[in-house]
Amino acid sequence: MKGIILAGGSGTRLYPTTKVISKQLIPVYDKPMIYYSFSTLMLAGIREVLLITTEKDLPAYQELFGDGSWLGMDISYCVQSEPRGVAEAFILGEKFIGNDSVCLVLGDNLLCGNQVTEMLQTGTKIEKGALIYGYYVNDPKEFGVIEFDENKKVISIEEKPQDPKSNYAIPGIYFYDNQVVTYAKNLQPSSRGELEISDLNQQYLAAGDLQVELLGRGIAWLDTGTCEGLLEATSFIYTIQKRTGLYLACLEEIAYKQGYITREELLDLAQPLCKTDYGRYLLTVAQDEF
Ligand code: DAU
Repeated sequence: MKGIILAGGSGTRLYPTTKVISKQLIPVYDKPMIYYSFSTLMLAGIREVLLITTEKDLPAYQELFGDGSWLGMDISYCVQSEPRGVAEAFILGEKFIGNDSVCLVLGDNLLCGNQVTEMLQTGTKIEKGALIYGYYVNDPKEFGVIEFDENKKVISIEEKPQDPKSNYAIPGIYFYDNQVVTYAKNLQPSSRGELEISDLNQQYLAAGDLQVELLGRGIAWLDTGTCEGLLEATSFIYTIQKRTGLYLACLEEIAYKQGYITREELLDLAQPLCKTDYGRYLLTVAQDEF
């Protein structure tokens, strides 16, 4: 399975911070926002990743991640010239996807919890159709929302409905079979002028090929697309890391624990960072204490 990470968009909801900086590069507590969604792909065991961003922001991402080999990953890049919608990722990524299945993660979404790895690994096993998730939120109006019938069968997917039919919002992580490219090409821009991921999911639903898994309370899904969301995510990461002493979305740690890099390579990555908490943490990871 291939992975696509979407890190473009205009970021206008975080202006003026995002006037000169890509939204997904601003920090969530102690690391760039994109580390969290990137870690989601790594935990899923996906190693070939296409990062889609704007022309202006591309050099910054290339400087941050390079070709990914320092993490045992294989990263390529693609420019989205205008924010024409989340589902355009599959049109831009057609060649990269080839004959494979694909997982899309949105660069401003953050998913944590002890069942996350298991949940992701189920996703990577899908052979046919699509798998998306539902997460109960107080106010689902700003998200894709799932409608169920009385037997909890999914009957529709709506993008940002004025009058949501349930409290189940759809997080920005999606698994698709190879059919996704064809479905994406069938899409017409919505009233806000975007190729909507919810319309794409609706096509899978109509074909009887959409699986929806509801996430429980042990999983935290945070959207960092607004100033308030960003503050909440920062406090969340700070609180968990301080309490446990264990880092979330520490990419070098994940690479080491997944067996993508050796202890020596981890130590080499830690060395220049030794004066920072992050670097000292990497040294502890290399001692295999947890
Ligand atoms: O966060 C989950 C929600 O993400 C889903 O529930 C919605 O169904 C989905 O449409 C999306 O809604 P948002 O309004 O949050 O999408 P946003 O425009 O903020 O874009 C999500 C990410 O994708 C963000 O990191 C920017 C990037 N993006 C977005 C668009 C529209 C692009 O790279 N290119 C684009 O054209």
